[in-house]
Amino acid sequence: MKVNGTPTRTIWPNADGSVEIIDQTRLPHAFVTTTLRSMEDAAVAIKDMLVRGAPLIGATAAYGMALAMRDDASDAALQAAHDRLYATRPTAVNLRWALADMLRTLRPLPAAERAAAAWARAAAICDDDVAINEAIGDHGLGLFRAAWEKKGATGRLNVLTHCNAGWLATVDWGTALAPIYKAHDAGIPVHVWVDETRPRSQGASLTAWELNQHGVPHTVIVDNVGGHLMQHGMVDLCIVGTDRTTATGDVCNKIGTYLKALAAHDNGVPFYVALPSPTVDWSISDGLKEIPIEERAGEEVSVVTGRTAAGDIVAVTVTPEGSPCGNWGFDVTPARYVTALVTERGVCPATREGLAGLFPDLAAAA
Ligand code: MRU
Repeated sequence: MKVNGTPTRTIWPNADGSVEIIDQTRLPHAFVTTTLRSMEDAAVAIKDMLVRGAPLIGATAAYGMALAMRDDASDAALQAAHDRLYATRPTAVNLRWALADMLRTLRPLPAAERAAAAWARAAAICDDDVAINEAIGDHGLGLFRAAWEKKGATGRLNVLTHCNAGWLATVDWGTALAPIYKAHDAGIPVHVWVDETRPRSQGASLTAWELNQHGVPHTVIVDNVGGHLMQHGMVDLCIVGTDRTTATGDVCNKIGTYLKALAAHDNGVPFYVALPSPTVDWSISDGLKEIPIEERAGEEVSVVTGRTAAGDIVAVTVTPEGSPCGNWGFDVTPARYVTALVTERGVCPATREGLAGLFPDLAAAA
């Protein structure tokens, strides 16, 4: 997508053997890139969420492996890089997927060939991610068009999304936002309700910034508004991303997604999940019992950061001193509340049969 008119991805290799990322902790106040010079830099960027979003976490880990191989291509360094990167964040399965792919590619090679192979494989993972997300956009566009026609092609198509599943969460295009961009570009008058997504405000900070850059009409709302809007016919469909989806269609995504799915179910609003195949965990069937949920520091809840009218970035505490804060990063939406999964191979029911029907090769390999 474009930043101030310039086509930009979220991660790319530099000519000097380093890797460039957008520092997403600085958005929406400043667009700055930062350089990853080592595997450890990549691990810290994932853990501290300079990069975030399931597909981009995977892509960054792949480049982290390439940085490690540039410095030391021994078997021991390969395993150590895998283990360090794997320990950064627990929920998004794309991390495990990308690291396993890199290990599979690199382990059989002699050490002298590993660095070049690692850079090539990381670049291919990024290119694949872009193609997957664009295909999700095309399949999602069909759903948006149908929803638009169903409402008589009048007014605007009101779409609610949670967190940031846009291009910033991927290498490019995004997952849940890809159909929004495609629909907007196709002339469907999309308007997006952007859930703020406390505590880290990925909706208010990142999704709103992306939609602004692309000129898509949107309104930022606090996290508790969606149900009210749905009760009053102000949401035509919801679409969100996912960090890990079970082989049976349970969806783990940013905390608060489940409550939106419940509200959508109660109000007959379609609830779609944009799902790239690397985000399916084919080894598990019960999202509630089997997906590890990240817990982060309480300070993310108690301290809010923002920009003053003078342009200074300030952090303020919003809780009484001494009140503990709980900070679960993700929740699980059972498959029964998901209207359909929008994948790169098409749209399917959130069921084992639905997923296996579109991905017989991946389901059989699991
Ligand atoms: O904690 P984050 O910002 O990494 O969480 C991101 C999300 O929950 C996204 O919705 C998810 O990764 C899907 S991104 C295409």
